[in-house]
Order: sequence, then C-alpha cells, then structure tokens
Amino acid sequence: EKGGYEHFTLKEIHEQPAVISETLKGKIKGDSAIIDEITLTEEELKNITKIHMVACGTSYHAALVGKYMIEQELRIPVEVEVASEFRYKNPIIAKTDLVILISQSGETADTLAGLREAKKSGAKAIGIINVMGSTISREADGTVYTNAGLEIGVASTKAFVSQLVALYILTLYLGEKKDILGVERRRYIIENLRKLPNIVDKILEIEDDIKEKASILDGVVSSIFIGRNINTAIAYEGALKLKEISYIHAEGYQSGELKHGPIALINEECPLIAIATKSDTYDKVKSNIEEVRARGGKVLTVATVGDVEIAEISDEVIYIPEIDELFSPVINVIPLQILSYYAAVNRGVDVDKPRNLAKSVTVE
Ligand code: F6R
Repeated sequence: EKGGYEHFTLKEIHEQPAVISETLKGKIKGDSAIIDEITLTEEELKNITKIHMVACGTSYHAALVGKYMIEQELRIPVEVEVASEFRYKNPIIAKTDLVILISQSGETADTLAGLREAKKSGAKAIGIINVMGSTISREADGTVYTNAGLEIGVASTKAFVSQLVALYILTLYLGEKKDILGVERRRYIIENLRKLPNIVDKILEIEDDIKEKASILDGVVSSIFIGRNINTAIAYEGALKLKEISYIHAEGYQSGELKHGPIALINEECPLIAIATKSDTYDKVKSNIEEVRARGGKVLTVATVGDVEIAEISDEVIYIPEIDELFSPVINVIPLQILSYYAAVNRGVDVDKPRNLAKSVTVE
C-alpha cells in the first residue's frame, strides 16, 4: 500500500535512500564490485573495446549518464541508442563489443529486440534490470539487478536512481577486471556511493521548500530544462518527468545549445529550470542563466548549498548538498522529481497513472 503517502509516486521518491543501499548491498565487497550474474570470462571482459547501451525513455537517460561515467573513468567508447532506433538501423556490433540493455521491467519490446540483435552479432549482452526473471534478464549473458523493488507509479523514479547506481557498480567491475581502475580510485568511488543515501535523505527533508517553489510552474504552458556534461541527461529526465505527470510541455537541452534556438521560446509563460550545481562547467551554465534572465525569463536553479551568487540571477533556488560531479546525477534528479510531482498535484493530475501511458511497453 501507499504507506501513508498520497500517491505511490511520492512513496517511491521517498524510498530512494533505501533503494540506493539495496542496490549496493551484496555487490560491493571490500574494494571490489561483485556481480555474480555476469557470465563473461576474464578474457572476454579484457577484450571489450567498445560498449553499446540500448534502452527507452527514462532508462535511456540512465544510459546517457552511464556513457559519461564509463568514458570518463574507463576511457572505453560508449554509444547510446534508443532501442527502437537501434533495432532497425542494422547496428555495427563487433564480437568483442559489449551491449548493455537497461530496462526496469525487462520486458520492453524494443529493448528486448535490441538484445536479440546484439546476440545475432555474436557480441555479449548484459542487462541492467529491475524485475527478476524477466525476459531480458533470462536471455542476456548476465544481469545487474537493480533491486529497487516493485515500482507502481507509471513515471519511473526509484528505478532510475537504482539504474544509475548499478551503472557505477558496473563501471567499478569493468574497471577492475580490465585493470583500468586502481584500488585508490575504486575506493574513492565506493566511498562516494556510500554517501548517497544520506545526501538523498537531506534533499527529501526540504520537500516542503521544493513544493513551494513548484509554484513557478503555475499557469505556464512550456518549460526548458538545461544541464551540461554528465547532467545533460538529468535535464532530459527532469523534462520527461514534468511532461509525463503534469502535462506541462517541457524540453531538456544541453545548456550550451540554448542560444542555438530554444532561447527563442523563453518568456513569462516558459521558465527555465537550470541544473547549476558545482562542476567543471559551472561558470558556463551560469552565463546561460544570465542570458535567459536578460531576456526576461524566469529561472529556477538547482544549485550547491552555499552558492549565494546564483540566487542573484535566479527567481528561485533549490539548494542541495555538494558532491563530486561524477555522482551528482543521482542527487540532482531528486529535486526535479519532487518538482514534477507537486506541479502535477497542483494541476489535479492522476500522478500515479498519467493518461495514455503504460508501465510496461511490450508492443513496438
Ligand atoms: C518514464 C517511463 C518510461 C520507461 C520506458 C522504459 O517515467 O517510465 O519512459 O522508462 O518505457 O521502460 P523499461 O525501463 O521498463 O524498459
């Protein structure tokens, strides 16, 4: 049941600290990631020189974050493709490539077809899957289970966060097996992963503050989310969440693309939601915000606690704790989920079951 929450979606948002711990549990031993379900030999793992990630919707956004993670940490090139495109493009897959399918349900028709396409090429394929025994997990050469528990809200929240955690674990695993990540770096990653449940808890404590700030979306017809680098996908995910559950039109953009078109949409009825937490490209995002403000646009910024300057160029700021940019997607998505939730509640939408959507898309 809903455990005292008004909707499953809100309950699932609140379960996220526990879900992160659950995803980590049993998969980290000492300084190593252990994934028993992966059946690739040491040699097959060593031979991987390229990775493909294939997924749909929110799971696709997790893949985009995973690409940054793996390319930065392991320097292995990663191609990310929406499953419905991948399956029909006659994809170039070498036998030594690794294909990663990301799916909460493990049943999404296009993602399953992507897996079969990969196997036809003779490449190894592993799933990042929430539902045990699902079709993709049965057909893959191994599965990293995300252990998020049953997700009832149609809009994915806790499953997304668990997919990100599973991707960090997979990065650690490949990094060790392929002799790319030394013990010091692995330890650093594990320490940060262990900090995440507490940090997410801290953000959940400011739920009322975020709820109040959701009023920036009252009466708007459209909105633009921006992020950069590893948080570009979080801008996409924030926009998807908002449109799915509140029916407010929203687009996610790479912050640097704003002036190449979308800034034309900015006006009183189209606010900017900016992810401007501490990062290597923080100053760039800040100037993008200034450009929007100079054109009379309203801005809600997600920023790092202590950043007083950002308040001068934003209408509203949601402050969240500081963490290394590499792990920031996990925490940056939380205020955006809460924002979408309250924007939807304010509009009287059936949050758990938005119109026209199904939890599992088993037809093309
Ligand atoms: C968004 C959402 C969908 C799913 C997509 C993939 O909130 O729920 O976009 O993420 O249909 O589903 P899975 O992960 O089950 O393959």
